[in-house]
Amino acid sequence: MTVTDTPVLVVGGAGYIGSHVTLELIKGGREVVVVDDLSTGRRDLVPAGASFIQGDIGDSELIRRVLAERGCASIMMFAGSIIVSESFQMPLPYWRNNIGAGFAFLDACVKAGVRHFVYSSTAAVYGAPDRLPISEDAALRPISPYGRSKLALEWAVADACSVGDMRFAALRYFNVAGADAQGRSGQVSPVASHLIKIAVEAATGKRPGLSIHGADYPTPDGTCIRDYIHVSDLAEAHVLALGHLERGGESLIANCGYGRGFSVRDVLEAVQRVAGRELAIAIGPRRRGDPPALVADSTLLTRVLGWTPKRNDLDLIIRSALDWEAR
Ligand code: UFG
Repeated sequence: MTVTDTPVLVVGGAGYIGSHVTLELIKGGREVVVVDDLSTGRRDLVPAGASFIQGDIGDSELIRRVLAERGCASIMMFAGSIIVSESFQMPLPYWRNNIGAGFAFLDACVKAGVRHFVYSSTAAVYGAPDRLPISEDAALRPISPYGRSKLALEWAVADACSVGDMRFAALRYFNVAGADAQGRSGQVSPVASHLIKIAVEAATGKRPGLSIHGADYPTPDGTCIRDYIHVSDLAEAHVLALGHLERGGESLIANCGYGRGFSVRDVLEAVQRVAGRELAIAIGPRRRGDPPALVADSTLLTRVLGWTPKRNDLDLIIRSALDWEAR
């Protein structure tokens, strides 16, 4: 039996990104065990073909038992709290979920002899960088409790891998958007906070309109610039990263984006164009913790993993998000 014959444990596999990665793993013939507490994830997003266990990643006994019973050598970790603005209002729950539970999970993995650890990190570890595009060696200066908690666990994972047999891939996501082309998964949040999600909710009549959080940034049109990456391209990057580790590749930290930025106004124009509908847009104050511009240098992902994104097209990303929202 080789390592690729063992199931992959995906924690947070009932969430937006975790479910897309699970789809991609299953497509590649892998067996997948999803553990998710369904606090933000949804049971019906767990792809058919994956086994599902409802539970908390901080429950070391549960994780130990799943790893031992299923013989998982590889894990992917998506579970956690992910909203920058919310992390200012409730910093300690962010530390408890992303660090407390995250650390318990990491510790259980190390004790169980897990060999490959894929960690979902974020562009928020860079804070508001001096230069664009951002490469992985840019200064790490997170400006939100969310960013700090994600970076702290990234460091813990790296330290854990500096001794023993475990290797890791930390993928630092830029702005993930869009949905599976076959409609099997997409973003579901009772309280949406992400721009494209909110804009497609407005375009499908689920909310009256939306507001631009600040139009006085030092950018060409005054609104924040982000690098929007299609969730299915991101999912493929995860499968490549896992394959790299399972073939004996070195631990790696890689940015995930397309290397081009769109302003909030660009995105809203595109949503109106793709939806064929005008949106009610107001200009509001800045939102705490928003850096003016984040654009990835993802050459490492391409060079080391051979990642070739197939959906680098803002309209296509928005189309898929609209189709999902309309379902
Ligand atoms: N925005 C609006 N109106 C809205 C929602 C968002 O103007 O109703 C703006 C935001 O202010 C920001 C941009 O749209 O300028 C993108 O915001 P999102 O909430 O969609 O995403 P974030 O940029 O906050 O989040 C992303 C990633 C995180 C990363 C973070 C770093 O999802 O992983 O950037 O700040 F950590």
